[in-house]
Amino acid sequence: MCGIFAYIGKEEAFPIIVEGLKKLEYRGYDSAGISVYSAEDETIVTNKKKGKVADLLLSMGNMTVKGSVGIGHTRWATHGKPNDINSHPHNSNDQRLSLIHNGIIENYSVLKQALMRLGYEFHSDTDTEVLVNLISEVQQKENLDITEAVRVALSRVVGAYAIVVMDRDNPEKIVGARKSSPLVLGVNGEELILASDATPILEHTKKVIYLNDGEIVSLHRDMSYDIINLDNEAVSGVIEELDFSIEELEKGGYDHFMLKEIFEQHHTVRESMRGRVVPEESTIHLGGLQRSEYDLNAIERIVVIACGTSWHSGLIAEYLIEDIARVPVEVEYASEFRYRNPIIKDTDLYIAISQSGETADTLAALELVKSHGAKTYGIVNVVGSSIARMTDFGSYTHAGPEIGVASTKAFTSQVTVLTLLAIHLAGVRGTITAERKERLVKSLVKIPYHIETILAQSDKIKYIASDLRNAPNALYLGRGYNFPVALEGALKLKEISYIHAEGYPAAEMKHGPIALIDSFMPVILIATNQSAHEKLLNNLHEIKARNAKVLAIVTKDEEEIKKNADFCIEIPEVEEELTPLLSVIPLQLLAYYIAVFRGCNVDQPRNLAKSVTVE
Ligand code: G6P
Repeated sequence: MCGIFAYIGKEEAFPIIVEGLKKLEYRGYDSAGISVYSAEDETIVTNKKKGKVADLLLSMGNMTVKGSVGIGHTRWATHGKPNDINSHPHNSNDQRLSLIHNGIIENYSVLKQALMRLGYEFHSDTDTEVLVNLISEVQQKENLDITEAVRVALSRVVGAYAIVVMDRDNPEKIVGARKSSPLVLGVNGEELILASDATPILEHTKKVIYLNDGEIVSLHRDMSYDIINLDNEAVSGVIEELDFSIEELEKGGYDHFMLKEIFEQHHTVRESMRGRVVPEESTIHLGGLQRSEYDLNAIERIVVIACGTSWHSGLIAEYLIEDIARVPVEVEYASEFRYRNPIIKDTDLYIAISQSGETADTLAALELVKSHGAKTYGIVNVVGSSIARMTDFGSYTHAGPEIGVASTKAFTSQVTVLTLLAIHLAGVRGTITAERKERLVKSLVKIPYHIETILAQSDKIKYIASDLRNAPNALYLGRGYNFPVALEGALKLKEISYIHAEGYPAAEMKHGPIALIDSFMPVILIATNQSAHEKLLNNLHEIKARNAKVLAIVTKDEEEIKKNADFCIEIPEVEEELTPLLSVIPLQLLAYYIAVFRGCNVDQPRNLAKSVTVE
């Protein structure tokens, strides 16, 4: 949700910022803008444009701005629709300050009124323009250095922000600050970079400092930097080493990041298990959890908090944990949970699931839980992210950077880690027989091989996609472990192809969706549950009687289903608890190919953002 990139160093800043923004575009792509300090003219030159970074460059012709300090932004609109004026950076009325912002200033209206009474004029609809003028007012009134002006101004601000600001009258430094929105500092002795996440920093350095909430960092041209908190106390930032490579950030020959990420899943699922499974002993080691010495026997209830695709993995965890570990599980949309006066007990374990580790609602829900003293466990992909740092203990999913906005490999990695957690929990609590545990663990370690066999069917799935590409709607049905997969399959399709799709528990079809079924409503039936074979077959007959086309996801022996469905994709037979890790793969590919056939922007679907850092 908005990408921030700022540079101070010896090189020309403009092209470096352009490259940085391109890597951050998955966070938001409504508009883009760059400010660079021009030493020649002793002024800040700002260019900004509605659209993508490429549109900004096009609008500038071949022009570039010379200077070695600058800030850039790629926007996902919150306040004010996407247009040139609302794009960032925003400059103060006197053009002295230029600022980029990710987040929402909640009290911007009050601040705006106060500034207007002082004679400030506003040209955009944004809260950001209020913030830059507030800093400007504080700076001038109290004759403050830019760092101090930012600190004082932020003490008057309510809301979420990651900001970077530059000062025409002090181009020797830029200042960044964060609260509830991420900001990472990259250091390599030659240049200093601030960015919303580490992806655009990697090609400059692997050494990063993840800023904490309430911290303000000043980057100086002599390559020194200092961090303070809002109370003006010095903070020593901890330098961490990035653990992913440039190759992981590139498409590697695939047409889209999403396709690359789908095709990585045999590898990423293996990575999620690496070092955590001892198949010979059927044991699971989840370091973060075990090191904490937290008593898993004392848990009376597990509450999962998550959003989007991560919420779907939470639903699978509910089935898994209740089935094998016999602990009651509730799965909450973080956005609902945080506002509904929930019952929070210290005998509960709260599991936050998040790819980005920055989702605003999940973070806020965690804060609420922590304020009640309950224990929190993070299942997060992005190392060093806010949720990873805020939770009491956690397990990284180790899926590597996920760039495509529609989540794919992050989902299967989350489900893998949750499966490990469920098995471990069941072992500790004595709710699983040695024989079942052994069966599950042995089956789990083979999942990556099975994923490869499904990926090998991509041409067949592409063919089916070409047949279904013009459907106006689609219905996804699944039962038990595969009901959440139906939700996830439908979400993938609507996210990237803009076809309206619904996921439903198959048996619920009769309570409404059946009224919609006709020859224009293809149905995707996940029929891999051995335990519900007859029931799913009945569903299929009912659907076919109403002339809908059916794509069935089946296992080898589902002969009756194969005979009656229009299309079938076969997945290998595994323990029923593990089928989601396989059944979701054809659904991801189906959504991908349909979106490509419809000419949609697969990696950057309209109105969506990879990381939703605002409410
Ligand atoms: C956005 C993304 C989804 C993601 C959801 C939750 O909506 O587009 O792909 O599932 O946020 O994000 P998280 O990073 O917390 O998993």
